[in-house]
Amino acid sequence: MLNDISSVFFSQEDLAQIVTRLGKQISEDYKNKNLLLVSILKGSIVFMSDLMRSITIPCRIDFMAVSSYGSGIKSSGTVKIIKDLDLNLEGYDLLIVEDILDSGRTLSSLMDMLSLRKPKSIEICTLFDKPERREADVKAKYIGARVPDAFIVGYGLDYDEKYRNLPFVGVIKPEVYEK
Ligand code: IMP
Ligand code: MG
Repeated sequence: MLNDISSVFFSQEDLAQIVTRLGKQISEDYKNKNLLLVSILKGSIVFMSDLMRSITIPCRIDFMAVSSYGSGIKSSGTVKIIKDLDLNLEGYDLLIVEDILDSGRTLSSLMDMLSLRKPKSIEICTLFDKPERREADVKAKYIGARVPDAFIVGYGLDYDEKYRNLPFVGVIKPEVYEK
């Protein structure tokens, strides 16, 4: 698995620093609110599990799975709910926790869908942002780091469902895609 990685973008230390900063900011901003973290499966699970432990105020969590990518590296543009939330969103200050904001199509349709369920507020916290690739109009209130237009894996992010368990974030060698 490690042989497939050509370079490391974010080390474990880099990621821990990013998550600590975000957790602190969210804890301040949501002090007097009714925070509900919604993790978008599966890419955000590692980020989510670290982020929730860096948040020092009471909060609830829930999970949702949507599909937009299949096994390739390009967004299909259609978002389908694979697993819906358990909680009713009314009265919650919803913070969507996502691994990476790319074209923005996934989060844009998700925001539209979830807004209809009348949460008190709705914002996005994304670990990574690729602003150059944006196609849909969507903005994240919290961004861990901006990344260039490269396909990255690790710390939850996959290529063909692999590499999610890498503790760092890196780029895979081009020949891996060609296999
Ligand atoms: P969007 O709808 O194009 O913004 O796609 C967002 C989703 O695509 C993310 O939640 C990821 O699952 C996936 N994705 C986009 N870029 C990458 C990447 O560089 N590595 C791994 N997954 C990615
Ligand atoms: Mg994802």
